[in-house]
Amino acid sequence: MSIEQLESIAQAMVAPGKGIIAIDESNNTIKKRFDSVGVPNTEENRRAYREMLLTAPGISQHISGAILYDETIRQATKAGVPFTKVMLDAGILPGIKVDRGPFPLAGFPGELVTEGLDGLRDRLNEYAKLGAKFAKWRAVITISGDAPSGTCIEANCHALARYAALCQEAGIVPMVEPEVLMDGEHDIDECYDVTEATLRSLFASLYEQNVLLEGTILKASMVISGKACPDQASTDEVAEMTIRCLKSAVPASLPGIVFLSGGQTDEQATANLNAMNQQGPHPWPLSFSYGRAMQQAALKLWGQDMAANFAAAQKTVAQRARENGLAALGQWKKVA
Ligand code: 13P
Repeated sequence: MSIEQLESIAQAMVAPGKGIIAIDESNNTIKKRFDSVGVPNTEENRRAYREMLLTAPGISQHISGAILYDETIRQATKAGVPFTKVMLDAGILPGIKVDRGPFPLAGFPGELVTEGLDGLRDRLNEYAKLGAKFAKWRAVITISGDAPSGTCIEANCHALARYAALCQEAGIVPMVEPEVLMDGEHDIDECYDVTEATLRSLFASLYEQNVLLEGTILKASMVISGKACPDQASTDEVAEMTIRCLKSAVPASLPGIVFLSGGQTDEQATANLNAMNQQGPHPWPLSFSYGRAMQQAALKLWGQDMAANFAAAQKTVAQRARENGLAALGQWKKVA
């Protein structure tokens, strides 16, 4: 695949008014989500839930791509149509989570490093054959006491860059996600410093590994107060500081940046993205790649009664897509 093809996939991912839905929860993570609404974590329930989301009428107007899990990319609708075909027919790009999750970083208690590079070339080639156009790798950076260490940041960014280079070799656009967790009592200034250091390390590593930025998407966490911080920054402050941080660390040649929701409420995630886009124009399109902030309302409805609430749950996820699509344009308005 040529660089032009990677570039055009990356650009399609952040097309105006469109973003990504992340439905790539591992079987352990989806168990936690299902447990919260009393749904048994069976393969059929996972399949039915993902079918409900992916086939929600009208969703492709605001959704450019969906990130799937290994099990999900091999699944099909109840009628037997592979999810990847349903998606490509609707103009939704199939994405795939390829990391193996975060593990304790030896020698650095409490810190994590994401694993999954061994055998990744073969797995990427298989995912490309299954229809994946982009991939995701999530690194987790924790703010606590003296953490994060420089070692933790470097180890994670090195792995992200090795992953990104392998993706491009396989003709897949890498979405690089260094998530600075919201958990903790830290204030927004500390989040700014850690996010800036992480992004600078990430782009230095991408350069070292010969990754083409034109065919790469950044999935970023917002610069935001820790969840337990007594002083919660306002929407405008989050937007202003997130943009200042991105401008200080992210090259303008990147085709786009999408955000994770990371435990924000649905409304916060939408309002913050909207505020950022109202402060534009910026060097890159800023959009969303939300998991929880796209799904939680729909999951609740579906979990109450899978059959009776199927259409209502689909309407709810399509509405979240519409609201976040508007926020990606800076045109969202809070409904009173
Ligand atoms: P959240 O939006 O729920 O944080 O999930 C996004 C994601 O894909 C994290 O890797």
